[in-house]
Amino acid sequence: MDKSENNLLEKIVSLCKRRGFIFPGSEIYGGLANSWDYGPLGVQLKKNIKDLWWDKFVERREDIVGIDAAIFMNPKIWEASRHVSEFSDPLVECKKCHQRFREDQIEGVCPNCGGKEFTEAKQFNLMFPIRLGPTEDSSNMTYLRGEIAQAMFVNFKNVLDTTRVRLPFGIASQGVAFRNEITPGNFIFRTREFDLMEFEYFVPESEWEKWFEYWRGQMREWLEDIGVDLKNVHEVEIPDGERAHYSKRTIDFEYDYPFGQKELYGLAYRTDFDLKNHIEKSGQDLSYTDPETGEKLVPHVVEPTFGLSRSVLVALLEAYQEEDDRVVLKLPPKLAPYKAAVFPLLKNKPELVEKARSIFKDLKEQFNVAWDDRGNIGKRYYSQDEVGTPYCVTIDFQTLEDQTVTVRDRDTAKQERITISELGSFLGDKLK
Ligand code: GAP
Repeated sequence: MDKSENNLLEKIVSLCKRRGFIFPGSEIYGGLANSWDYGPLGVQLKKNIKDLWWDKFVERREDIVGIDAAIFMNPKIWEASRHVSEFSDPLVECKKCHQRFREDQIEGVCPNCGGKEFTEAKQFNLMFPIRLGPTEDSSNMTYLRGEIAQAMFVNFKNVLDTTRVRLPFGIASQGVAFRNEITPGNFIFRTREFDLMEFEYFVPESEWEKWFEYWRGQMREWLEDIGVDLKNVHEVEIPDGERAHYSKRTIDFEYDYPFGQKELYGLAYRTDFDLKNHIEKSGQDLSYTDPETGEKLVPHVVEPTFGLSRSVLVALLEAYQEEDDRVVLKLPPKLAPYKAAVFPLLKNKPELVEKARSIFKDLKEQFNVAWDDRGNIGKRYYSQDEVGTPYCVTIDFQTLEDQTVTVRDRDTAKQERITISELGSFLGDKLK
């Protein structure tokens, strides 16, 4: 299916609402523009992506360790990192309808009224100021974090002191970031709060290019892990003047969304910009001492960043298929919210229901499994296909005689009979 088909986004938004992946935020009060709540299946999909990422980049590697830092941080961090002074987008106002837009997103025409005259662009800072505590003076002001990266820089020494990491090594984190976006929109593509996964990979300056290429390759591999066809992804070199203030080289991984080719992930060479600024402003020693040579240096940083909200969106876009009379989410099994669904053939036959319940309970010990006894088997298949459940297990009268069940594959719709005792290992193998 062509991922740039322009009503694909509407189909995904509708499926997400209908099946409990993602709901419009604050809905019973009329909503809050561009805010979204993850429902039972959406939170599971998001968790599966996070877990897969953590497993690949942290648990399976010796050279990356994780942290989970506070969202509220000392505002001096945001001054040192220059987010307060430089983390901004160009804002223009339409002279006709007075709506405000990000200059680079409107191509000279007001999306609201079609007007073509705009005010001069001025820089609009994306950080959300907040006040902590009950007093109103400015000494309690800080910001919601505009990126999760700063926590990894300010904890650099803590990590060095408490782990056995040696250059090159990374610090990874997952969490929410907040940006007062001028023009949010396109479902969960651009929102004012969003989930991020990223790591700062610390290297000697002389090795940054090698590691940049290495992580570029790993990012491609990750995209394939979550089911993305690389033909829908474009690696775009960001020119001087358009990169974030901290970056000396950036490649954006752009994706062919239904609303155009836009950023999915980024890979940046942040030099020693952040550590140097924090050394200068905090007065702390954030250098690294080579344990063999005793040489002291401030490492340079290559940063692969993976928007988690955009990963959810792209996983859904890639997985969505319409085949004959069914809609099927061909999610990689590791991402699927439910790994299997268990059905008694008939709801009104207690012996079938009892057997099916016992199989369901056993499988639930190992996998996130759904139960469904509504309607007929065809409807249940349809319903599970639509949420991406890779296998459906049906308990029928033959089960009572020979202890076998029917297992139906989501992608091929083929069915095979499997003994109950083999079911756990069958699913385990398929879901690897
Ligand atoms: N620490 C680097 C950093 O934050 P970024 O390119 O500003 O880099 C990282 O953001 C990723 O976060 C982007 O590649 C994108 O996937 C995601 N992202 C950025 N702004 C977003 C927004 N408003 N809504 C959803 N995702 C966003």
